[in-house]
Amino acid sequence: MSKHTGIVIITGASRGLGASAAIQAAKRGMGVIVTYNSHSAGADAVVRQIETGGGKAVALALDVAKVSSFAGFRDRVATALASTWDRDRFDALVNNAGYGQFNAIEAVTEAEFDGLLGVHLKGPFFLTQALLPLMADGAQIINMTSATTRVATPGAAPYAAFKGGLEVLTRYMAKEFGPRGIRANSVSPGAIRTDMTSGAFDQMPEFETMLAGQTALGRIGAPDDVGRVIAGLLSADSGWINAQNIEVSGGYNI
Ligand SMILES: NC(=O)c1ccc[n+]([C@@H]2O[C@H](COP(=O)([O-])OP(=O)(O)OC[C@H]3O[C@@H](n4cnc5c(N)ncnc54)[C@H](OP(=O)(O)O)[C@@H]3O)[C@@H](O)[C@H]2O)c1
Repeated sequence: MSKHTGIVIITGASRGLGASAAIQAAKRGMGVIVTYNSHSAGADAVVRQIETGGGKAVALALDVAKVSSFAGFRDRVATALASTWDRDRFDALVNNAGYGQFNAIEAVTEAEFDGLLGVHLKGPFFLTQALLPLMADGAQIINMTSATTRVATPGAAPYAAFKGGLEVLTRYMAKEFGPRGIRANSVSPGAIRTDMTSGAFDQMPEFETMLAGQTALGRIGAPDDVGRVIAGLLSADSGWINAQNIEVSGGYNI
């Protein structure tokens, strides 16, 4: 029988896929630390929704591009664990925070490249490193990547390259943290309608129609299509899934 226990930290959970994962994990009984960057109201709304459903959640600010802030973030996590759950360890980390940016390789600026690198690869690397001392033995890590690592999508080169790096890093995490019983997987969504994508879909409905046509199940995804998979991986029933990249795309470009 499915068992969800413990506390999960989900970065970028003020909206979109992270918010869905937070709510789905809480529904199944987990405590949740949701992080936000600019949208504190969104994070507060997620916390309220979880509390209304009888769960426990805390919102903390975190810019995953600011490695120098991670030690301070770890201290705030330790305080939240003690004051809200009477715990000194947490049980899962979902490295989800991110943003999209389309530009052709010939036009990408160094600033665009460095921005994407910081949030999608360097941030998850050093955030995981910073939080390791608070991670319980037997915990798990889920890294959010993208189906653009499998399907070359013009304009997404730096984003997809760093997400691909995160998939490789996931296997290294599984290898190096295995002795502590910590497993690591990546989840790789296809196109999902969130704030990250809705502008493009609203401006170019034909883009959404094209992606839906390239998807075996005939539509693009909704946040809960991914949030429920994250929650499923957080279950003890998924405890033997390790070092995998799990694409969640309805069968995109197969
Ligand atoms: N939507 C898709 O089609 C799709 C497909 C494949 C992969 N993904 C990946 O899924 C993840 C979530 O995307 P989404 O679609 O849910 O996007 P979204 O709705 O735009 O939400 C992005 C989240 O990331 C946070 N964030 C952005 N930059 C941050 C930073 N520097 N530090 C900390 N938090 C930051 C945002 O925080 P604030 O709201 O506080 O600013 C927000 O909570 C991303 O890693 C994205 O690459 C999305």
